[in-house]
Amino acid sequence: MPYEQSRSGARRIRVVADRPYTLLSCSMSIDGYLAGPNRTRLLLSNDDDFDRVDAVRASCDAILVGAATVRKDNPRLLVRERSRRDERVALGLAPSPTKVTVTRRARLDPGAAFFTAGDSEKLIYCASAAVADARTRLGAMATIVDGGQPIDMQSMGRDLLARGVQRLMVEGGGSLHTQFLLGDLVDELHLVVAPFFVGDTRARRFVNAGHFPWNPDRRATLAEVRQIGDVVLMRYALSDRFRGE
Ligand SMILES: NC(=O)c1ccc[n+]([C@@H]2O[C@H](COP(=O)([O-])OP(=O)(O)OC[C@H]3O[C@@H](n4cnc5c(N)ncnc54)[C@H](OP(=O)(O)O)[C@@H]3O)[C@@H](O)[C@H]2O)c1
Repeated sequence: MPYEQSRSGARRIRVVADRPYTLLSCSMSIDGYLAGPNRTRLLLSNDDDFDRVDAVRASCDAILVGAATVRKDNPRLLVRERSRRDERVALGLAPSPTKVTVTRRARLDPGAAFFTAGDSEKLIYCASAAVADARTRLGAMATIVDGGQPIDMQSMGRDLLARGVQRLMVEGGGSLHTQFLLGDLVDELHLVVAPFFVGDTRARRFVNAGHFPWNPDRRATLAEVRQIGDVVLMRYALSDRFRGE
């Protein structure tokens, strides 16, 4: 597939893609935290922004979250707005994108909303050592993919592309953000800043430490800044595949 195609059908840049177009989306506090320090879920966005995120979800083929996010936030990972689900169905797609998670230990609760909410396809990329256990406990609820030992995000991306995922949304948490960004595997970053501080170093940060491809000598391209009520969305173009739609 020598050319990428936008959803509107227009021809774009010439690339030979070996991974899905990848959009990383997250919201954080002013001081860069993804959550509070305890198990209580912290809302780092507002209704209008949740609706924007819903539209982005509806435009993707798969949504990926880390296993800790499945355990802690228990997200449904569905398109909420009915008209968006209908639009997808009219295009011959499932109402919501495929749900994807990644785990080393496969300690996931089969009762989690990841498995029980909606009819979307579910994929679990599991480290080789835990695959047998995962198939026994979760094989009826999801497709268990042997992701290797360790799992690297680039190989996972290749496998997702081979399964038909052309547009991937990565929705956290910090461990996945770090691996995707360090690996230069993100085409577009959506960063929302909520108007408060968390101020507790026990909480999870947007990313861990590392040598990121964007640094003072290689600045990322800021593509858009949008105020959405009391939060701000910053969109960064992180590769030349960026589609500024
Ligand atoms: N504000 C936001 O936008 C947002 C979005 C999502 C999440 N969050 C927050 O982020 C926090 C969770 O972030 P987190 O960094 O702790 O966890 P995470 O990224 O959600 O998940 C980490 C887990 O994913 C699995 N994993 C990650 N990389 C792997 C690899 N290469 N191979 C195999 N398994 C791998 C491991 O699962 P196992 O432990 O099962 O082996 C690991 O413990 C939560 O507090 C959540 O509320 C915030």
